[in-house]
Amino acid sequence: MDKSKCEALCDLYLYTSKFAYRTVKQEEIAKALGVSQQTVSRVLKELETSGWITRDLTKDGEFIRLTPEGEAKLLEILDEIANVITKHRTLKIKARVVSGKGEGSLYVSLPYYRESFVKYLGFEPYPGTLNAIIYDRTSMENRVLLDMHKGIEIPEKREPDRILGSVKAFPASVGGISPSALVIPSRSVHPKSVIELISPIKLRDALNLKDGDEIEVEVYV
Ligand code: CDP
Repeated sequence: MDKSKCEALCDLYLYTSKFAYRTVKQEEIAKALGVSQQTVSRVLKELETSGWITRDLTKDGEFIRLTPEGEAKLLEILDEIANVITKHRTLKIKARVVSGKGEGSLYVSLPYYRESFVKYLGFEPYPGTLNAIIYDRTSMENRVLLDMHKGIEIPEKREPDRILGSVKAFPASVGGISPSALVIPSRSVHPKSVIELISPIKLRDALNLKDGDEIEVEVYV
């Protein structure tokens, strides 16, 4: 795809969509996009020759409209942009399922955390956490990267006799199942290589997992 022509189409679209029902002068576009009028004139010609726009000239300027081909091209470009953004915003972590000591179900079941997960993540979690151990370097690097991301912070809650520690949560897909989330409790008893996952459903059943099985987690940062 010709990059500069695509950029021109995007710019033009973003600008002209503001006045789809009126004519526009080339000087006006040039000023809005910070380029010369000659550039606007050349680009409009190129876009028209490509069949991406139509131009109806009037004495007050011109009506510029996207053709169905132009619209399809624009969607293609937006899709590419969305893909690039999503790729950069996803960290992949592979890990092997392990059993914990049942602490996960205790804390996820506490009303404060349960309600917070509903509020911040949009789902009521199955009471427990699926634990898994990272064993490869890339996954470990990605896990460490999570410490640099803000994620969704569930604040700590002070109760008269105890403090419910804060939890950092990242929306995730576990073995293709989403919504799910990777949770990092501030008072975790686990080393960094152990990840804790929550989901509205019991992941072991849904993915037919037993201890030692590998899972792939996509974490959205
Ligand atoms: O016993 P453990 O600490 O490993 O887990 P738990 O937090 O008490 O959760 C009970 C069981 O449900 C464990 O076998 C978890 O691995 C599993 N689990 C699951 O399959 N899917 C979830 N979304 C949460 C927990």
